[in-house]
Amino acid sequence: MSGHVHIFDTTLRDGEQSPGAALHIDEKLEIARQLERLGVDIIEAGFPISSPGDFEAVRRIAAIVDRATVCGLTRAVQKDIDVAWDALKGAKRPRIHTGLGVSDNHLQHKLRKTRDEALEIGTAAVRYAKSLGCQDIEYFTEDAGRADPDYLCRVVEGVIKAGATVINVPDTTGYMTPDEYGGLFAMLLNRVPGAVNVVFSAHCHNDLGLATANALAAVSAGARQVECTINGIGERAGNTSLEEVVMALKVRGTQFGGAYTNIQTTEIFKTSRLVSNRTGVLVQPNKAIVGANAFAHSSGIHQDGVLKERSTYEIIDPADVGISESKIILSPRSGRHALKHRLEVLGHTFEADDAFEKVYQRFLLVADQKKLVYDEDLEAIASDEVQIIGRAYELSQLQVMCGDQSIPTATVSLRHANGGILTDSHHGNGPVDAVYRAVNRIVNVPNELIEISLQSVTEGTDALANVTIRVRSGDDIYSGHAAHTDIIVASTKAYVNALNKLIMDKQGVSGRKESADLDGSV
Ligand code: KIV
Ligand code: ZN
Repeated sequence: MSGHVHIFDTTLRDGEQSPGAALHIDEKLEIARQLERLGVDIIEAGFPISSPGDFEAVRRIAAIVDRATVCGLTRAVQKDIDVAWDALKGAKRPRIHTGLGVSDNHLQHKLRKTRDEALEIGTAAVRYAKSLGCQDIEYFTEDAGRADPDYLCRVVEGVIKAGATVINVPDTTGYMTPDEYGGLFAMLLNRVPGAVNVVFSAHCHNDLGLATANALAAVSAGARQVECTINGIGERAGNTSLEEVVMALKVRGTQFGGAYTNIQTTEIFKTSRLVSNRTGVLVQPNKAIVGANAFAHSSGIHQDGVLKERSTYEIIDPADVGISESKIILSPRSGRHALKHRLEVLGHTFEADDAFEKVYQRFLLVADQKKLVYDEDLEAIASDEVQIIGRAYELSQLQVMCGDQSIPTATVSLRHANGGILTDSHHGNGPVDAVYRAVNRIVNVPNELIEISLQSVTEGTDALANVTIRVRSGDDIYSGHAAHTDIIVASTKAYVNALNKLIMDKQGVSGRKESADLDGSV
């Protein structure tokens, strides 16, 4: 068996099911392009039947992805498969990912089918996908972790005979331990006729914090595909984190029988930042590989050791995951050429000159305030200025009065997409509260602010602040982010960006997911 472990990225499907992580269609395309640069083997682009927005996202990703396989999820239902196949028809390498629950729990409570009925539905779905001309069919045995092993073997045997080429064995509820999960793969590879002719895939959820360990145990037992997401985002506690599995195999591959991936690891950090910015799901500081503290040494003994010899306390060279050590610092005197070059090195290319010009003008403002501009600042500026969601409103002017002896009051002017400037004022409990009330008087869409988080981009009092905001409107959550040296300005811009997403969505022009769930209907 080859040691090549295929990396199946499901950030745009399972990852997007993180609460509030819904992405605009253009953001999905941006992430798909970066996933290609990262070198993932398969991109699960969405669940086409779930909404017109998801269909369109899969269709457009299929059209731009050059090297990776593009995959669309379906239930074991002909209509789903038809729609997914239609969405995937522009892909160079299309894959249908279909399947059905296999645990008695799912069969009885969700699907209300007998084991035999469910087996027939699953095999019929694979035969149907094949009859459409699909050569690459992945079958998911949902909740395999809690299924009866004999029945699981029957299902896997049946769908292989029907034409499945990849068998996904999900631990849907994150219930399994590494020994059990590895054992499941060993059993399937041992017992199921035809198992050697297909690829077995690990798909783990992190409810017990074991998703990475379980996926690696599956690799040890012979799985040759791992399904994962950037930063481990996903439903509930998330999915297996791509960067953890990839770096574990890179650093400790011999522990896994020499298994390896083809990921360009130097693209990991950039991809992590992009996904965090676009989904609004922050990365915890102590997150392995991509957290802000992943390579920080604060104790004196550790610092001393690392300065003398890096390997004393570091098992990964930060450069291997794309964290550059030699930080080029730009200043107000750095011209357009130097800025463009540095942004290109950091992975930002600009199709239109006016997009770069916006970033350049913003760079000049920041450079004036901060004097020295670091790579982290450039990332924040580029990601802030090149937000691709259409903007119904943009901050034009902001004036805030606050202090311990005054009533915090904000006057906000927003420029509407039609060019008009709208101004209003409000007081509040604090400056941010006053700003939000003033913005709401102008925008006038019902929403509830549920989260505001602030991160300093670099050190020092002149640092840029990255603000991420989440607002709720009915059942939907929208996030917005912005960076500025003034935290009130950053908060205002982030809030307006979140409201822009909400407005576009309500107008039905965002391409955002309307509903996506593997419900019980088959
Ligand atoms: O967790 C799971 O079982 C899934 C399947 C739909 C593949 O995400
Ligand atoms: Zn899942």
